[in-house]
Amino acid sequence: MKLNGIKLTWLGHGTFLLETPGGKKVLIDPWVMNNPFTPADKKSFDKIDVMLCTHGHGDHIGDAVELAKKHNPSVVGVYELCLWLQKKGVERVVPMNKGGSQKVADIWVTMVHADHSCGIEDDGQIIYGGEACGFVIQCENGVRIYHSGDTNVFGDMQIIHDLYQPHVAIMPIGDVFTMGPREAAYACRLLKPKAVIPMHFGSFSVLTGVPEELERRIKDMGIELITLEPGETYSGETNS
Ligand code: NI
Ligand code: MN
Repeated sequence: MKLNGIKLTWLGHGTFLLETPGGKKVLIDPWVMNNPFTPADKKSFDKIDVMLCTHGHGDHIGDAVELAKKHNPSVVGVYELCLWLQKKGVERVVPMNKGGSQKVADIWVTMVHADHSCGIEDDGQIIYGGEACGFVIQCENGVRIYHSGDTNVFGDMQIIHDLYQPHVAIMPIGDVFTMGPREAAYACRLLKPKAVIPMHFGSFSVLTGVPEELERRIKDMGIELITLEPGETYSGETNS
């Protein structure tokens, strides 16, 4: 799967840095400085143009406020999560909800369903954070990337395929808190991407799902499995 100028770097767990062909930097699920799986040399950025937040759990938005204050990106999330981020001092929130699409910097972002929870831990309290979601991101070169966020498989992934036809699907396989390889393989059947990138596995000892099992379960589907190491960049040509 060629990404035609897009660079996608896995920063460990659910966090990805997407660089568009035009050089915009999009950080998906900003858990970086405190993410033990992010390589030390990838923990800082020269700029962040857009931040996409799938849900309010700490292993996804743990560094959202600090990074937003430093780089002043447009921060996209579900409405309630954006209100909370704004209250914490994030200036440029771009709230939306499921089924909506909007252009942010050079990318088109569509918010889609995820089957997960979304409480925000704040000073010992659990705050309602709206609902967990996923994103379909379309870059200016037409390549569409689906980052599912934390989720179980759900039948409406068929609708995501029918409406948006993502070329690349980034999905959790770790099990326990999200789907494991069995569910992710079923998700691949519904989404029919050209390539799938597993995430949210191996980071904590309970996240036991492994890419090898996903590979075994999707081998009849003609989908390319791209297994990255934390810090590794995928561009569809030569990996670095
Ligand atoms: Ni979560
Ligand atoms: Mn998570």
